[in-house]
Amino acid sequence: MDPAPELLFYVNGRKVIEKNVDPETMLLPYLRKNHILFFASIRLTGTKYGCGGGGCGACTVMISRYDPITKRIRHHPANACLTPICSLYGTAVTTVEGIGSTKTRIHPVQERIAKCHGTQCGFCTPGMVMSIYTLLRNHPEPTLDQLTEALGGNLCRCTGYRPIIDACKTFCKTSGCCQGKENGVCCLDGGINELPELEAEDETSPKLFSEELFLPLDPTQELIFPPELMIMAEKPLQKTRVFGGERMMWISPVTLKELLEAKFKYPQAPVVMGNTSVGPAMKFKGVFHPVIISPDKIKELSVISHELNGLTLGAGLSLAQVKDVLSDVVQKLPEEKTQTYRALLRQLRTLAGSQIRNMASLGGHIMSRHLDSDLNPLLAVSNCTLNVLSREGKRQIPLNDQFLSKSPSADLSPQEILISVYVPFSRKWEFVSAFRQAQRQQNALAIVNSGMRVFFGEGDGLIRELSISYGGVGPTTICAKNSCQKLIGRPWNEEMLDAACRLVLDEVCLPGSAPGGKVEFKRTLMVSFLFKFYLEVSQILKRMDPGHYPCLANKYESALGDLHSRHHWSTLKYQNADPKQLPQDPIGRPIMHLSGIKHATGEAIYCDDMPAVDQELFLTFVTSSRAHAKIMSMDLSGALSLPGVVDILTAEHLHGVNSFSTETFLAVDKVLCVGQLVCAVIADSEIQAKRAAKEVKIVYQDLMPLILTIEEAIQHDSFFETERKLEYGNVDEAFKEVDQILEGEIHMGGQEHFYMETQSMLAIPKGEDQEMDVYVSTQFPRYIQEAVASVLKVPANKVMCHVRRVGGAFGGKVLKTSTMAAITAFAANKHGRAVRCILERGEDMLITGGRHPYLGKYKAGFMNDGRILALEVEHYNNGGSSLDESLWVIEMGLLKLDNAYKFPNLRCRGRACKTNLPSNTALRGFGFPQAGLITESCITEVAARCGLSPERVRVINMYKEVDETPYKQEINAKNLNQCWRECMAKSSYSMRKTAVEKFNAENYWKKKGLAVVPLKFPVGLGSAFAFGQAAALVHIYLDGSALVTHGGIEMGQGVHTKMIQVASRELKMPMSNIHLRGTSTETVPNANVSGGSMVADINGLAVKEACQTLLKRLEPIISKNPQGTWKDWAQAAFDQSISLSVIGYFRGYESDMNWEKGEGHPFEYFVYGAACSEVEIDCLTGEHKNIRTDIVMDIGYSINPALDIGQVEGAFIQGMGLYTIEELNYSPQGILYTRGPDQYKIPAICDIPTELHISFLPPSENSNTLYSSKGLGESGVFLGCSVFFAIHDAVCAARQERGLSGLPKLSSPLTPEKIRMACEDKFTKMIPRDEPGSYVPWNVRI
Ligand SMILES: Cc1cc2nc3c(=O)[nH]c(=O)nc-3n(C[C@H](O)[C@H](O)[C@H](O)COP(=O)(O)OP(=O)(O)OC[C@H]3O[C@@H](n4cnc5c(N)ncnc54)[C@H](O)[C@@H]3O)c2cc1C
Ligand code: FES
Ligand code: FES
Repeated sequence: MDPAPELLFYVNGRKVIEKNVDPETMLLPYLRKNHILFFASIRLTGTKYGCGGGGCGACTVMISRYDPITKRIRHHPANACLTPICSLYGTAVTTVEGIGSTKTRIHPVQERIAKCHGTQCGFCTPGMVMSIYTLLRNHPEPTLDQLTEALGGNLCRCTGYRPIIDACKTFCKTSGCCQGKENGVCCLDGGINELPELEAEDETSPKLFSEELFLPLDPTQELIFPPELMIMAEKPLQKTRVFGGERMMWISPVTLKELLEAKFKYPQAPVVMGNTSVGPAMKFKGVFHPVIISPDKIKELSVISHELNGLTLGAGLSLAQVKDVLSDVVQKLPEEKTQTYRALLRQLRTLAGSQIRNMASLGGHIMSRHLDSDLNPLLAVSNCTLNVLSREGKRQIPLNDQFLSKSPSADLSPQEILISVYVPFSRKWEFVSAFRQAQRQQNALAIVNSGMRVFFGEGDGLIRELSISYGGVGPTTICAKNSCQKLIGRPWNEEMLDAACRLVLDEVCLPGSAPGGKVEFKRTLMVSFLFKFYLEVSQILKRMDPGHYPCLANKYESALGDLHSRHHWSTLKYQNADPKQLPQDPIGRPIMHLSGIKHATGEAIYCDDMPAVDQELFLTFVTSSRAHAKIMSMDLSGALSLPGVVDILTAEHLHGVNSFSTETFLAVDKVLCVGQLVCAVIADSEIQAKRAAKEVKIVYQDLMPLILTIEEAIQHDSFFETERKLEYGNVDEAFKEVDQILEGEIHMGGQEHFYMETQSMLAIPKGEDQEMDVYVSTQFPRYIQEAVASVLKVPANKVMCHVRRVGGAFGGKVLKTSTMAAITAFAANKHGRAVRCILERGEDMLITGGRHPYLGKYKAGFMNDGRILALEVEHYNNGGSSLDESLWVIEMGLLKLDNAYKFPNLRCRGRACKTNLPSNTALRGFGFPQAGLITESCITEVAARCGLSPERVRVINMYKEVDETPYKQEINAKNLNQCWRECMAKSSYSMRKTAVEKFNAENYWKKKGLAVVPLKFPVGLGSAFAFGQAAALVHIYLDGSALVTHGGIEMGQGVHTKMIQVASRELKMPMSNIHLRGTSTETVPNANVSGGSMVADINGLAVKEACQTLLKRLEPIISKNPQGTWKDWAQAAFDQSISLSVIGYFRGYESDMNWEKGEGHPFEYFVYGAACSEVEIDCLTGEHKNIRTDIVMDIGYSINPALDIGQVEGAFIQGMGLYTIEELNYSPQGILYTRGPDQYKIPAICDIPTELHISFLPPSENSNTLYSSKGLGESGVFLGCSVFFAIHDAVCAARQERGLSGLPKLSSPLTPEKIRMACEDKFTKMIPRDEPGSYVPWNVRI
């Protein structure tokens, strides 16, 4: 073995030779940091860091390899964050910069995703582009199935995916059509729901983009695979390559013999193939391997051998290759032989995303023996064998329960290598199946999965062999061996099923405190899967031998079949710009996001993309591991002695400046939550800082009480400030008059912002006059400026805060960002060097808090006809350990809880609970999504009590025409009612309701649900009037170009695009002549936070005023030379000493709220809307599918319909996630478990409704606002609860059929667990239940 060879690969067509490669380096940081390539420096920052663990797709690149045997080049997508650079020898890497740029030529994929409005904050876009690009390299005219499959591993938090799908569809052969006959109908046949779509009078909406102008896809224009790499591959080096780093050695054997030698020499070294198991373990679990063996192109590991009775698959084949092989085989062989292969394909369809499937190897998957492996349970029941090899020779090991439990007698010895896996054909009368249920349909580890196989004696129907194994219910795959043994010889009937369920539950015993929680759900899934298998097999038996086997009862058949749907279809309807409007006036037109193309080419610069400053340092935080404890001691010596460590800041260093507003920066003496910042380690590099942070030793002594939940806070009277109250009418009197009174409560979980760009900041001391520049990803630069000035004890004029763009914020980049920025700036100031701080995803989720969990209690007095006459509501939110904005969230929740309803007598009160959790903060909607859900739950319950439909009760109680809100603000609800009526009509509500009822009557195990909710979203700042002011600065230069600056932050919503539209209209100047560089406290001082749906509203009015002032000033010049150009006018103004620079100012909407009196005018206007959603649930697994959503919104006059539709649908999908799958889990000690995309599931492409129809009401006058437009950033989130209530409806249908009375007690999010457990049946009754208090649960509901 030769040490230190050169690592050779290509990046974007350029050769890279690395002489001193560190094997610990992953491709992502390698690309993003400075490197010298052939005398040129490259920094490819287009590839983004989103999670570092393969779960988000932001770092997707294409890797191409030449196979000398097949003579083909394989292009596959890969997560750069998990790709060790040493594994890239001989490959060609293509990043987003390599396929196109504005400086050369943009690629059609880049162009179309931008022009179809598929980018908002743009942070996910390079990853999306590379996934699509790679697909097109392999399939230039892909099907929609292939497209959605290719994007399954890419998350986007902004767009809601619809526009990305639209962009992709333009590459499909038949782009307009769903290309399938789902449910027997194609979209062109008039609706996937087998029902007429929109009503006849609906005109087709104007298009948001024109396909005709797109660049054609020309495969001949792509980068060629470097011929040098082909020659290298044809003449493979016969020598192992060894790369030695500071701590790790990487050995890449190129022949089997060398591999065995290496394994002999280093038996403990892992054999790294895809690195998707070893990589995350090293990164997140602190596992370290001093030696890694990574075979390179060893052909024996890639074998695909078709044998007499089965297939032998090389351990080195990627899961994607296995999928391709199996897909091919099932086409060619008779069904009875391919039962196992079909079941494997079923699991492979949803296993991870496309990137991971292409990186991960079959061998790595099997050998990892993850407890939730999707393939091992199936391989274990299918009599598979492992072919293993060492220097001692070959042997075969059965892939069985003993192997999976790592029993030494059944495992590989440390010197052995897994070469291949033999997967036998199934036999006649043998049936194999696989099942899985996860929090999200795709790219989510299973909660429980299973492989099942039965073999019958020919014709006699008696069980000869039975194998059942489960994943997710133990430390590894568990085989129910004894149960299976006891069932041998029994006929396949219901008695057998019943016995099987009981035996399995007895054998696979899952303790109440099992890791992962959801214990009763897991138990139920085990038997539900068994039931599904029973039915599947019964159905086939019946088909094979109709005489012998009874027909399945019709109602049972619905237990079979998946809910997955892949074909997305959407319509968008908005009002076109007024035909009388000047063609160059961009207002009202669907203009592409100003940065759209740059997002897609990777040229858009985010905070961490900024080049390193000379002598820059990195700062990382050490956070508390206890929720409520005294800090007894802190030992920093170990950390300080490590190389590269410059300093460690504690509260002592910040003495006297250690807090700002409500927030303490670094913990003093005690900690109040896990994740609280305790100290900050500053080192020369990120790696050194992270290593040192692990060496900081803190001794804690726990303090009492530990308060985590809302209930505990109530019990301990632990609140922030006094309660907020609002009362309207005479509630007590009204309660005396009503027919019925009900009392109820609902709990709603929190939500993680999951902005794709984590918290990022760079503080640069200017070296003069104590000046400090702070580049930061924030929504509130002024606040950061103030916090930094305060910690540095300098006036604000010494601190400048700059924000070019933010990769998503949603409310999460305000207070916590200021704390971290202040500490970073303190460090920079102390050392006189620039300091960068970029949080990892896990740190970000742990530290920053999110949406407040809520407990809502209500007491409603109502008449039998559904009229609610009295309502009493209590709101409690879980504020966490510091006040943050918790009280303001409570206020907004109370002011907005009436939603669309007139409650003539209302009393509501709210309190923010102080708990030992990271402080919760603003998140899109700011209390409304929680308050609205509580109200809608109450309405649903009232409807049930009255025997009326929820929509009927909604209409009965809805505001009609002019009225007043509980805080006595006037409201004209005409448009609310119109939205509701249009939504009911466009969704064909009543027809579909009948269809749903028919479906439910015919299907026992699948149920559909339909729900419609109205929306009245008040826009304004409550009593915080001063927060509504805004300013803008407009300069005209002598060449006639304009520079616009304003106080709003571009965080994906497209505010800069809208501001340029405004300036363009006002100045009658083409948009191309106007530039906007970003936001800075230097140009617009004292700007307010960007949030609350008002960023474009208020800043637009300031820009408008600036432009109008300028025009007025120039009017004499312009009128003298009306045919002149802006260049002429600017020059003339200059010559006449007229200033060409103007500040525009908007003092904010008048707003006030007197909480003492309970009245005011806290809001400027209301956004109205309605959404109707239909879902289907699988009662046996709890899975749900979003079939269709119709949204109608009154958004006034849209300044940019493309951006506005983007806001509505993006918010809707975020809301859908909030109410259905996004679930935060905390341990009973207050530790957040869910710290990355692998544990916390935001909606992915598989979650969006199969059909999505969005339409806007025709514009209506809204005199005070910018061109009568309305702010839309937040309102759509609440509409996601239409999915919640549709699921609720489906669950009710299931329960009704099962004879269960009353409404189920459901809480948000309505996860598969809650859906399944609410659909009670014989299986839920069968499972063992643990006595509460008899065990310590894995998690607590906060
Ligand atoms: C984001 C993400 C999502 C995922 N989602 C899913 C999912 O939905 N369902 C699911 O089942 N799994 C999922 N996984 C897990 C994934 O399937 C495994 O990580 C993967 O299959 C491991 O393969 P690998 O080649 O990357 O293994 P590596 O990390 O390269 O190696 C893993 C282990 O296997 C050993 N090994 C590998 N090859 C050999 C060999 N030939 N001989 C001996 N030992 C060997 C190594 O020594 C090492 O210990 C996911 C992983 C990630 C990162
Ligand atoms: S950063 Fe690589 S997948 Fe998220
Ligand atoms: S545009 Fe996709 S995450 Fe922002």
